[in-house]
Amino acid sequence: MGIKSCSVAYVLSFISLTFLAQAANEKGLGASFIFGDSLVDAGNNNYLPTLSKANIRPNGIDFKASSGNPTGRYTNGRTIGDIVGEELGQPNFAVPFLSPNSTGKAILYGVNYASGGGGILNATGRIFVNRLGMDIQIDYFNITRKQFDKLLGRSKAKEYISKNSIFSITVGSNDFLNNYLLPVLSIGARISQSPDAFIDDMIRHLRDQLTRLYQLDARKFVIGNVGPIGCIPYQKTINQVTQDQCVDLPNKLAIQYNGRLKDLLAELNDNLPGSTFIYANVYELVLELISNYDKYGFSTATRACCGNGGQFAGIIPCGPTSSLCSDRSAHVFWDPYHPSEAANLILAKKLLDGDKRYISPINLRQLRDI
Ligand SMILES: *[C@@H]1O[C@H](CO)[C@@H](O)[C@H](O)[C@H]1NC(C)=O
Ligand SMILES: *[C@@H]1O[C@H](CO)[C@@H](O)[C@H](O)[C@H]1NC(C)=O
Ligand SMILES: *[C@@H]1O[C@H](CO)[C@@H](O)[C@H](O)[C@H]1NC(C)=O
Repeated sequence: MGIKSCSVAYVLSFISLTFLAQAANEKGLGASFIFGDSLVDAGNNNYLPTLSKANIRPNGIDFKASSGNPTGRYTNGRTIGDIVGEELGQPNFAVPFLSPNSTGKAILYGVNYASGGGGILNATGRIFVNRLGMDIQIDYFNITRKQFDKLLGRSKAKEYISKNSIFSITVGSNDFLNNYLLPVLSIGARISQSPDAFIDDMIRHLRDQLTRLYQLDARKFVIGNVGPIGCIPYQKTINQVTQDQCVDLPNKLAIQYNGRLKDLLAELNDNLPGSTFIYANVYELVLELISNYDKYGFSTATRACCGNGGQFAGIIPCGPTSSLCSDRSAHVFWDPYHPSEAANLILAKKLLDGDKRYISPINLRQLRDI
């Protein structure tokens, strides 16, 4: 190809990309950028040498797009991030950053940076040898951000990122479960740090991380708080509580962090002009589901569907040798840590259309439309 035809091809593909970006605008949401941990990882850990993996059966058994094959999602079907994207009009799931597919126009629908085992603090998840923490996830977004400039041109890219994109961050559980509360690896941190000091550290890092995203033109944010991690089958099993009990300390830490997170988001809403930070009260939402599981059509909120070990199948992660429940839609928990797709559908719906008790100051559909 000569220089002329090459530049014609370039201009044509530029026009069609701009058109694609505009078409996405009209449907509402352009891109969904997803950060966080295994609750929303869509396959990044498949590309890491790590002990935290979900691309093994029967994970993904109900994921239609892969015909039931594992994708790296830590659940039987779609994650909350997948469902929210679909509902807001995204034509494709956000592609995992580390997958070879995260190039070209695929990134216009968004990119997923989330990583099983990852946390706010760099040291979190060390037990898995490898995972992407939030600092690295944002370094990766910085790479994507430059790809957008190339794809759309600087001013269109900036508009697309700030007006037509939602940044969701689901993180914090691992900072407790796989850092602060871990008996061996973090013993130093736990002796030398009070819960207050540890949570201060988390909030300080998260403030820096969210501010970096803002500097890269992110404006519409949704941040999930930490769920009732004392009620997951893993914690209930290792602490040997009864069916109706949850473990006290992890829930107390979560509540303490969540209060600080709410204040942080109010502060950022005031200090970063043009930004909207919304607070997703995952804690209340999951607790509601656990407390009233029968009302929502579940038969248990304590036993993992896929898992092994102890009273609540809560010790060994889900894999080919795990026992598998007979009705996957009757379990709130898919595995010792993660909700089932049936639970994710209910949680996502409340985040999309729910009231201030669960999502504030506005819900996700309203966030898309501002
Ligand atoms: C990458 O794209 C190919 C072709 O569209 C598709 O078959 C494959 O499932 C994709 N892989 C991932 C990880 O999304
Ligand atoms: C965490 O790791 C990232 C990437 O390696 C690095 O840029 C950052 O400075 C680290 N943060 C701390 C507090 O060590
Ligand atoms: C993004 O990367 C550039 C280098 O390519 C760096 O100068 C800039 O500080 C980074 N921005 C953020 C917010 O990390």
